[in-house]
Amino acid sequence: MLLIHQPVLVDGVIKVLKPEKNDSYLDLTAGYGGHANIILARTKNYRESVLVDRDKTSTDYLHNIFADKPLMIINQDYYQASTDLMKQNKKFDIILVDLGVSSQHLNDQSRGFSFKDNGPLDMRMDQSQKLSAMVVVNDYPEKELARIISEYGDEPKARYIAKLIVNNRPILNTQELAKLCLKAWPGRSKIHPATRTFQAIRIEVNQELTLLQKSLPIWFNLLKPDGRLAVISFHSLEDRITKQFFKDNSGERYDSELTLLTKKPIVPDQNEIVINPRSRSAKLRAVVKNKKTK
Ligand SMILES: C[S@@+](CC[C@H](N)C(=O)[O-])C[C@H]1O[C@@H](n2cnc3c(N)ncnc32)[C@H](O)[C@@H]1O
Repeated sequence: MLLIHQPVLVDGVIKVLKPEKNDSYLDLTAGYGGHANIILARTKNYRESVLVDRDKTSTDYLHNIFADKPLMIINQDYYQASTDLMKQNKKFDIILVDLGVSSQHLNDQSRGFSFKDNGPLDMRMDQSQKLSAMVVVNDYPEKELARIISEYGDEPKARYIAKLIVNNRPILNTQELAKLCLKAWPGRSKIHPATRTFQAIRIEVNQELTLLQKSLPIWFNLLKPDGRLAVISFHSLEDRITKQFFKDNSGERYDSELTLLTKKPIVPDQNEIVINPRSRSAKLRAVVKNKKTK
């Protein structure tokens, strides 16, 4: 099978999730099935497993590769899908959330995620939603743009870049936006000057932090007692939200509902980073739901 997206931290995921025969599995960011293939090959429980992705290109691909398996595949954002599954009283032994974009998003220039090639200002994982990078870049007030670029991109020159954007509207494609970032950072820099701004706008377009914050308590609800939840994040704010939720609900207290499986996050080794550079910022945290919890 053609590997469209190389799954990250596979050994760590197997170590914490411990997939066993008959375990039910919920993959909330199934992408191109990299992790799902490996986990389902162990559990062999297709009937009680669910794969979710908000990108229809992914779910179409998943329908194809799992055509002969009795799997449920849902094309929805994970918050909505998790809420629906909770209403149906579904519970799982294993839940995996591998946040962010897939390599396919970055490689397909027509999706507008990458500053390397020219493309439309899009960046929507769910192409049926209204909010796109075109709206954020061309319609947001300067102050709001500066906040987003600073907060989500950790960009020291956020205010200046926001001003450049507003003064050069309309901005019609990814290359025009990337050029403005280059203008803010003349001379040499370690990473491409557009990296942080593109990341920030993508997070805003897809409401990535809000959805994570709202979904964590639901994922906890979807776990069976002794069920394991693993979250892989690629951004420090995502990792902070996950870490805080896990910390608040675990510990030595009599009423703690979760136990940490990772005191420190699992990160890729040098070998993995060389083979798959996209893995370099990945952090894996996991918890198990205590048996006494309903
Ligand atoms: C890093 S990739 C996952 C790759 C997958 N684990 C694999 O091995 O093929 C992240 C995927 O999550 C999806 N995604 C991101 N945020 C989502 C959300 N809020 N709801 C559902 N899917 C989401 C993206 O469309 C993308 O396909």
